[in-house]
Amino acid sequence: MSDLKIALIGAGYIAKKHLEVIKNIKGMKVIAITSRTKKKAEKLSKEFNIKYIFNDYKKLINTIKPDGIMILVSSEEIFTLTQKIIPFNIPIFIEKPLGLNLKETKKLNRLAIKHRLKSIVGFNRRHYSNFETGLNIIKKKGKLLGITIEGHERFWKIENIISKKNKNSWLYSNSSHVIDLFRYFAGEISSINSYSGSLSKKRLDQFSSIIKFKSGTIGNYIANWYSPSGWSIKLHGEKVLVVFKPLEKGYWVDSNFKKHNIKMSQVDKKYKPGFYNQMQSFKKMLLTKKLHWPSQSIQDTLKTYTIIDQISSLKKND
Ligand SMILES: NC(=O)c1ccc[n+]([C@@H]2O[C@H](COP(=O)([O-])OP(=O)(O)OC[C@H]3O[C@@H](n4cnc5c(N)ncnc54)[C@H](OP(=O)(O)O)[C@@H]3O)[C@@H](O)[C@H]2O)c1
Repeated sequence: MSDLKIALIGAGYIAKKHLEVIKNIKGMKVIAITSRTKKKAEKLSKEFNIKYIFNDYKKLINTIKPDGIMILVSSEEIFTLTQKIIPFNIPIFIEKPLGLNLKETKKLNRLAIKHRLKSIVGFNRRHYSNFETGLNIIKKKGKLLGITIEGHERFWKIENIISKKNKNSWLYSNSSHVIDLFRYFAGEISSINSYSGSLSKKRLDQFSSIIKFKSGTIGNYIANWYSPSGWSIKLHGEKVLVVFKPLEKGYWVDSNFKKHNIKMSQVDKKYKPGFYNQMQSFKKMLLTKKLHWPSQSIQDTLKTYTIIDQISSLKKND
């Protein structure tokens, strides 16, 4: 069987991380690339032996007819470009964020449904090997009783570097990575109660939510963007606790309060964590024409974005 033909749009930091993985996956080959600045595409094509460089995506798609397209452009460009790519009806992998607000994501979802598109959105943390191990430890002992996700951002360090558009959508643009993990660990939500505040007075930058899941799990989301902290997750099981702090480092605590380390797999150490299994999942989707959990389609991502909308919505009396 011949290799799956993959085309890349975007030639920046994340394109390189994906190329490092695809190079080592049998049955997939990146054969074409296009990017806004051609020089960057040329550089990657030399480094990773990519046969064709195109000036624009239309020419690329019509000439190559790829089996899969990867949209790896800057956050601000993802929505506009994805809108144009969906009608070609070629399975796509889209880096997060899938739009910078709920309205954009809904629009992409409607378009994807219309064209019956197969898609994966790049929430690579869903593919972390330590998360899979942690979830199995909880399940082995019983139910997931509670989940606490701290999604603090170091906003004072980045607010003068990122674009205004990105700044005003940071929950979607960046925090979506951790907020999406609620659904990975605990399933779909049944209700949510949120409070938010603002230190900066420019946008909301403090969040606290209590989430009830259909499974019965109760979740907490906390984020303070002007306080030195980071992302972490606590999974409360039956006489067992699993902690990821930072997300790449984990341990579990048994009923006698003894700590045990949770390790990352070799591929998660070799590549950007989650990227190898995520790419295997993209390959599987291209071969079977079906999405495989824990990957998320555009439609699934809309559920995460709906949670973000509820976390960030000010109540009338706030
Ligand atoms: N999953 C993760 O952990 C993770 C980590 C980092 C980034 N990301 C996501 O990956 C995406 C790319 O991030 P990055 O760090 O790689 O950014 P980057 O280094 O700035 O690269 C973006 C690339 O896309 C190109 N581009 C922008 N708009 C385009 C358009 N309309 N058509 C064609 N090419 C276009 C840029 O061209 P120019 O050279 O002309 O700017 C650049 O080559 C972002 O959406 C980001 O959120 C995900």
